[in-house]
Amino acid sequence: MSFTGGRDQQFNRSNYNSRGGDFRGQRSSDQNSYNHQSNGRGYQSGGRGGMRGGSSFNGPQELIKPNWEQELPNLPTFEKNFYVEHETVRNRSDAEVAEFRKKNEMTISGHDIPKPITSFDEAGFPDYVLKEVKAEGFDAPTGIQCQGWPMALSGRDMIGVAATGSGKTLSYCLPGIVHINAQPLLSPGDGPIVLVLAPTRELAVQIQKECSKFGHSSRIRNTCVYGGVPRGQQIRDLSRGSEIVIATPGRLIDMLEIGKTNLKRVTYLVLDEADRMLDMGFEPQIRKIVDQIRPDRQTLMWSATWPKEVQQLASDYLNDPIQVQVGSLELSASHNIAQLVEVLSEFEKRDRLLKHLETASEDKESKILIFASTKRMCDEITKMLREDGWPALAIHGDKDQRERDWVLGEFRAGNSPIMVATDVAARGIDVKGINFVINYDMPGNIEDYVHRIGRTGRAGAKGTAISFFTEDNKSLGASLISIMREANQNIPPELLKYDRRARGPHPRYGGGGYGGRGGRGGYGRGRGGYGGGRGGNGGGYNNRSRDSGWQRNGGGGGNRW
Ligand SMILES: Nc1ncnc2c1ncn2[C@@H]1O[C@H](COP(=O)(O)OP(=O)(O)OP(=O)(O)O)[C@@H](O)[C@H]1O
Ligand SMILES: [Mg+2]
Repeated sequence: MSFTGGRDQQFNRSNYNSRGGDFRGQRSSDQNSYNHQSNGRGYQSGGRGGMRGGSSFNGPQELIKPNWEQELPNLPTFEKNFYVEHETVRNRSDAEVAEFRKKNEMTISGHDIPKPITSFDEAGFPDYVLKEVKAEGFDAPTGIQCQGWPMALSGRDMIGVAATGSGKTLSYCLPGIVHINAQPLLSPGDGPIVLVLAPTRELAVQIQKECSKFGHSSRIRNTCVYGGVPRGQQIRDLSRGSEIVIATPGRLIDMLEIGKTNLKRVTYLVLDEADRMLDMGFEPQIRKIVDQIRPDRQTLMWSATWPKEVQQLASDYLNDPIQVQVGSLELSASHNIAQLVEVLSEFEKRDRLLKHLETASEDKESKILIFASTKRMCDEITKMLREDGWPALAIHGDKDQRERDWVLGEFRAGNSPIMVATDVAARGIDVKGINFVINYDMPGNIEDYVHRIGRTGRAGAKGTAISFFTEDNKSLGASLISIMREANQNIPPELLKYDRRARGPHPRYGGGGYGGRGGRGGYGRGRGGYGGGRGGNGGGYNNRSRDSGWQRNGGGGGNRW
């Protein structure tokens, strides 16, 4: 367990405040020398600027891809395989392992894949990490954790695909913490060791919370770098040194270009929602970022969906990867979600929505997430609901970040139990108590359907998804039906007529009326519902009603609804 030693000692003899000071420099000068060597070689020319605390802004500099073939031999080697197989795991026969994988619907590919673990104690995490996990009160690791932890700990590049709400975040966070604890401490000017990239600001912040929770005991610092908020605090955090940076790509590139951080120390790279990150909207940015990271890093990709279209792209970033898929190999939704689909016309949607809200609100603890395809529609639905006395708030890319944060916070806290959202809330967001997801408009592509409805039915809980399907959505019909079939759902007869439609091109990549770049789909609207933050605060009425505090009085007679 030598990898735990260093930091534990540091932890014991340091107090929190001194962490960024003396001890960080103590044992890393030689190992970090490449930071000094590479200065002046032209790449990341402002890389040490973070230490200047923002006082010497030289304007953005274009990022130049280092010549890694030349650079690599000069870089210090680093350790990435920390996996020590537990004796019980080692003694398990191949047949037992096969049986376990079958029972948990795990499909693996690649060579030399470690055996899955079956309990927290078998995972081989240091005690201080294990203690935090146990403090969460979890009974057992989820399927993706059982197989994903040994894979990630072994230092291999990997792809982990498992249902929404199945605990993928911890699957990469905990091995990341172990990875950090085995590396030389950060020196002044060093960028992060672990970089997690995520598609939305809200998701990045949520991941940061997980990192803080589990990194706390080993004094790992993290910074979340995302757009829509002033850069000052993020710059200060970066310059203080953070072992983990969680970032949305655009803001991270800004920070790199102005030299406020650098990626020379990154040896553990995570793409959460990897298929989205490699989709056309983000891929150029991802490439720009990854070009700055040493190629012998460990790269980990995670998602609940892994469409063929991105698999080839992903291989550009991975070296001899291993993969685990938990659940069906076909695109599938979490089986904890009851999927209801209503085929109707556009003008029937409003009444149906209100009817479903009546039913859903019978459970006073319910939270309901309503998805609409455009920001304008989000605002219209929210306005309509609020005028009708429902406590609804909207979140989308035209709202400023403060309002987005506030709305999500109110929803999380249950103060405003209805949230109306664009696809900005489709991926990764983990809010306890969402019992219903309503697709007022169907998403632009079928993967987003899986992610959207996956905001309910998480961590073993049950949930219900109701989707309004119109003739305009016909290109999604066949794939929707197969997802429902896979999950043994009742398919309404009116939907079945769309079953026979030729599947045609994948709706994600053009054709079919949705999803084409520039169409209405969640993808392909440029940055559409994601990452917005351009423009001002589009939802004036939200502010007004927030000030008036109607949600406390509204909903009829003290009913929080
Ligand atoms: N072993 C476990 N047992 C019970 N709950 C867990 C376990 N691991 C994680 N969780 C909880 O499950 C919830 C969902 O986890 P997480 O957000 O990581 O899911 P995910 O697989 O990333 O989903 P998505 O695909 O939607 O991003 C979280 O609230 C998390 O705390
Ligand atoms: Mg996730």
